[in-house]
Amino acid sequence: PAKVIFDTDPGIDDAMALLFLHRHPGLDLQGITTVHGNARTDTTTRNARYLAQRFGLEVPVARGAAEPLAMPKSAPPTFVHGDDGLGNAGLSFEPTLALDPRPAYQLIIDTVRRHPGEVTLIAVGPLTNLGLALKEDPAIAGLVKEVVVMGGAFGVGGQGGNITPVAEANIHGDPHAADLVFSADWPVAIVGLDVTHKVLMRDADFRRLRDQGGEDGDFMWRISRHYVDFYSEREAIDGCYVHDSSAVAYVLDPSLFEVRRGPVRAVRDGLAMGQTIQRPDAQDFPPNAWDGLPSQRVCVDVDGERLMTLFMDTF
Ligand code: BDR
Ligand code: CA
Repeated sequence: PAKVIFDTDPGIDDAMALLFLHRHPGLDLQGITTVHGNARTDTTTRNARYLAQRFGLEVPVARGAAEPLAMPKSAPPTFVHGDDGLGNAGLSFEPTLALDPRPAYQLIIDTVRRHPGEVTLIAVGPLTNLGLALKEDPAIAGLVKEVVVMGGAFGVGGQGGNITPVAEANIHGDPHAADLVFSADWPVAIVGLDVTHKVLMRDADFRRLRDQGGEDGDFMWRISRHYVDFYSEREAIDGCYVHDSSAVAYVLDPSLFEVRRGPVRAVRDGLAMGQTIQRPDAQDFPPNAWDGLPSQRVCVDVDGERLMTLFMDTF
């Protein structure tokens, strides 16, 4: 199984993605690192400890950054993920699981250095911890197997952002870190809204999970009520999009996706802050801000039905 670190801001879909990767035999979780995003870092860290303890994930949980690299943090989206970050479903206990003493970026560095060339970083929140790890130890870029990011919106097929017309939440949450991560010399695959908006989880799927998915399924049903209400109202879909679990699915089976290659930048400030832009390798331009950067992979299409089957079958 592939060794992975899960960098996350749980977060309802983060929690589901974590259970997905925990239950799938193809992945070997090495650690969980938390970050600001769907809730404050105190809350996302509490939630990560809760999930690890309740579902028996025997891996270190390390607390990560509480704010972006170079700008003030914004208010968490409680209207999407609830005040507690897990849909106000009422956690069944306060976690007692000990936190790893290291900051998240250090756990990332140590794990990558212990298994050179073997660790995939799955990042499904703002990219602050990965940015800090690169700043602290730039050589890890050459030691990581792959970085798979849920984030961004490239406008492929007309898909825009979910925070502004051009910016997706995880990139908007720390555009400086995102730009660093995309520009570093390690292989990055980006699973953004262009594809996650094509992966639909219907409320009937949640009901099936509740009825046939054991404790995992029942838990996902409970935490998803708030999230499904939000999406059903805002997007007029009977369910929700599958964001973070699509990044996990990419690691399990990249053949679910079609990718376009080329260097990627994130807009760090101004009107378009958080926008993600790829310069496709196939296109030629005069000298520009993408020159000299590594070619990364941006997902431009997905087999959403097959992805959902992979997810449901895992439970
Ligand atoms: C991303 O933002 C968060 O709300 C989700 O957890 C996901 O990582 C989607 O834009
Ligand atoms: Ca997330």
